[in-house]
Amino acid sequence: SEADKIYLLNSVREIEDFPKPGIKFKDITTLLGDAKAFTLLIDHGDAKAFTLLIDHLVDRYSTMKIDYIAGIESRGFIFGAALAARLKTRFVPIRKPGKLPYTTISEKYSLEYGVDEVCIHIDAFSAITTSKPRVLLIDDLIATGGTATAAVNLINKAGAECVEACFVINLTFLQGDLDIKKTTSVYSVLEVF
Ligand code: PRP
Ligand code: MG
Repeated sequence: SEADKIYLLNSVREIEDFPKPGIKFKDITTLLGDAKAFTLLIDHGDAKAFTLLIDHLVDRYSTMKIDYIAGIESRGFIFGAALAARLKTRFVPIRKPGKLPYTTISEKYSLEYGVDEVCIHIDAFSAITTSKPRVLLIDDLIATGGTATAAVNLINKAGAECVEACFVINLTFLQGDLDIKKTTSVYSVLEVF
């Protein structure tokens, strides 16, 4: 509901000039811990932001026949793993270079602040053999969309189908979802204008 969205949005802390001057960093640790350090417009009693969010995602994805949830290191792991456990679905980590021990494939991308690369195990989706594995990509936030676009490309390269890319927060003014929408559908819980 709208009220829930306002509650969630208020649970995200904004840090000015992190990690660089001019960047307003969306700090999701306050959502996870729901410290209620901020003025909440709505009284949700005992509701906690993290639970509220995961409940919402469970509702959305429980009927979508998801074979795997792929989370992007590192903040995508928090939401992706929580959702996978609730949906009783497999979880695949999409990682930064040098972290995965087995054979990997990778994609480079430019970030809102810097250059980076994402990697996945070549056999990440091999448990499903009778049809193309259906993958839900999840991350905490889409800014320029570089990270997520690279991750979708990786999922497809690994022989699976990314059926949706899901974000807790979309910084819509950066239009990071434009590119990725050519390849998969995009869902964001909260939009920041
Ligand atoms: C942040 C954020 C997204 C990405 C979004 O991750 O968690 O993954 O940047 O930026 P983009 O849309 O411009 O690509 P970051 O690389 O800072 O690392 P972290 O998740 O490990 O903190
Ligand atoms: Mg990240």
